[in-house]
Amino acid sequence: MINVALPKGRLGNKVFDIFAKAGYDCQEMRESSRQLIFTSEKNNISYFLVKPSDVSIYVEHGAADIGIAGKDILLEYEPDVYELLDLNIGKCKMCVAGKTDFKDNPDVTLRVATKFVNIANTYYKNLNREIEIIKLNGSIELAPILNLSDVIVDIVETGTTLKENNLGVLTEILPISARLIANKASYKFKTDEINTIVERFREELQND
Ligand code: PRP
Repeated sequence: MINVALPKGRLGNKVFDIFAKAGYDCQEMRESSRQLIFTSEKNNISYFLVKPSDVSIYVEHGAADIGIAGKDILLEYEPDVYELLDLNIGKCKMCVAGKTDFKDNPDVTLRVATKFVNIANTYYKNLNREIEIIKLNGSIELAPILNLSDVIVDIVETGTTLKENNLGVLTEILPISARLIANKASYKFKTDEINTIVERFREELQND
């Protein structure tokens, strides 16, 4: 049996599509709204639906053998897992954003609001820019509007959230997409089963 941690929410349906196209039945997951564990006896797979930012925790600790996590989460938390495949879905960009007329004054500490403390710290450290991090958990776009911060470091997918709040991208930091990850011990002991999934996904990606 392979245990798979999948992200709930935005990525959900795209992830189910990938499994379905690769021949892994997951219709039941599309239909249910609150159930968190689904087992396909036919495919010998159990799926757990978890918060996107928690996928790598389940996989790192071996509660799941494999999972699908955004590159943003992998860069932010640096879990000790194998990254097996770029799935080319959930594409977005990690950006610095703020008021469109924002002008950076290098003589003062830059106040940066973000969920991605590690990514923001690394980015500004490489630029030798002194910053103060303001850690938020959501609705990051409010921070520059309310003058809680000068800029934000956040994910931009369609750009709608920024636009509807009169903000804009100031700098693109990194492209992000969803990755198939594996627990290191699971990969050692279930190599064939996991590689079968990787190969089916790879073929599917080539055919797309
Ligand atoms: C993310 C991100 C932005 C938004 C960007 O938030 O933090 O707010 O999506 O997407 P867009 O460019 O398509 O508008 P999420 O929806 O994960 O919610 P959050 O505010 O709780 O972080």
